[in-house]
Amino acid sequence: MISNNLIPVKYTASVLIVDDLQSDTELIEAVFKSDDFRVFKSAHPVEAIDIFETSQPDIAIIDITRPDINGFQLCQIFKDRAGRRFFPVILIAAHSDRGSRIKGLESGADDFISSPFDPREFLARIRSLLRLKHLHDELEHSENIILTLAATLEVRDPHTQGHSTRVGEFSKEFGDYLGLSLQEQELLRKAGLLHDIGKIGLSKDLFLKPPPLTDEEMEIIKKHTIIGEQICKPLHSLREVLPAIRHHHERWDGNGFPDGLKGEDVPLLARILSIVDSFDAMFSERLYREGRTAFEVLEVMGEEKHLGQWDPRLLEHFIEMMNLTGHDLLGLGAGADVRPDEQKEPLLL
Ligand SMILES: [Fe+2]
Repeated sequence: MISNNLIPVKYTASVLIVDDLQSDTELIEAVFKSDDFRVFKSAHPVEAIDIFETSQPDIAIIDITRPDINGFQLCQIFKDRAGRRFFPVILIAAHSDRGSRIKGLESGADDFISSPFDPREFLARIRSLLRLKHLHDELEHSENIILTLAATLEVRDPHTQGHSTRVGEFSKEFGDYLGLSLQEQELLRKAGLLHDIGKIGLSKDLFLKPPPLTDEEMEIIKKHTIIGEQICKPLHSLREVLPAIRHHHERWDGNGFPDGLKGEDVPLLARILSIVDSFDAMFSERLYREGRTAFEVLEVMGEEKHLGQWDPRLLEHFIEMMNLTGHDLLGLGAGADVRPDEQKEPLLL
């Protein structure tokens, strides 16, 4: 296993120092310059936010002892604006009392240093956080490559018409409707985008072929679930998405693939994904037939529920959601075939 110490901190790592006392800022700056950091300085929160946005420093050091700089609030603003990106923030205080430490952690700070500080220890902590940031950035970069690949493949293929992107967004909305956590909703969005990525390992002609397919062709198509799982498996950050990718063609009655899982043995995210996937596939136009209206699709899915295809309670919730917000969702997402005269009517009661 590679030691963290072997992962380089980039040579020109940049640091933003927010402190309104010139002498302190100069001291901290001297510490950084001795180690080849690029330094931005600011004594004003508004200016500091502007530097954060325009110069994108790698880390921020905020002095929380100055009454005219609300360091806790500034820390929170940096964290909010960084979003999913890891942006380390260190707070410096003359007296790191317990209350300030707790408040600092609550505002999202990654470390808390008492002033005066030992320059070597100070630098060691900075470098440690930058190594962590480097790992986060690398991970996000790798994940983004796979997500972008999935989206790009679709854009280039007129026959899928952005199906996976829609399934991702729609699944996330359904997860929200079901009361799932934000984290689970995000997993659903990624799972939707990636669920068919395994198709890149199979012949395109096979997926464009109108039914009926031979048994041999069906067996090949079924493999896209396992290939998709294998493509995403090396990425640790996608590990929670893997079950949804592998099992999005399982059925409630156990007659699906690739593992023939049954009922609640099929992971919840996969059950959600399979409903949205099928809805969008039927709702969208395909090569060999016209897309159906949302009403028609939900009617078909209602019949399939009785045949054991879907988790019955989940499908009821899906139909319920579509009746409440379906027109808005379809307007934003699938969009293709909602006739104007249907728009004020329930999709399916
Ligand atoms: Fe699929």
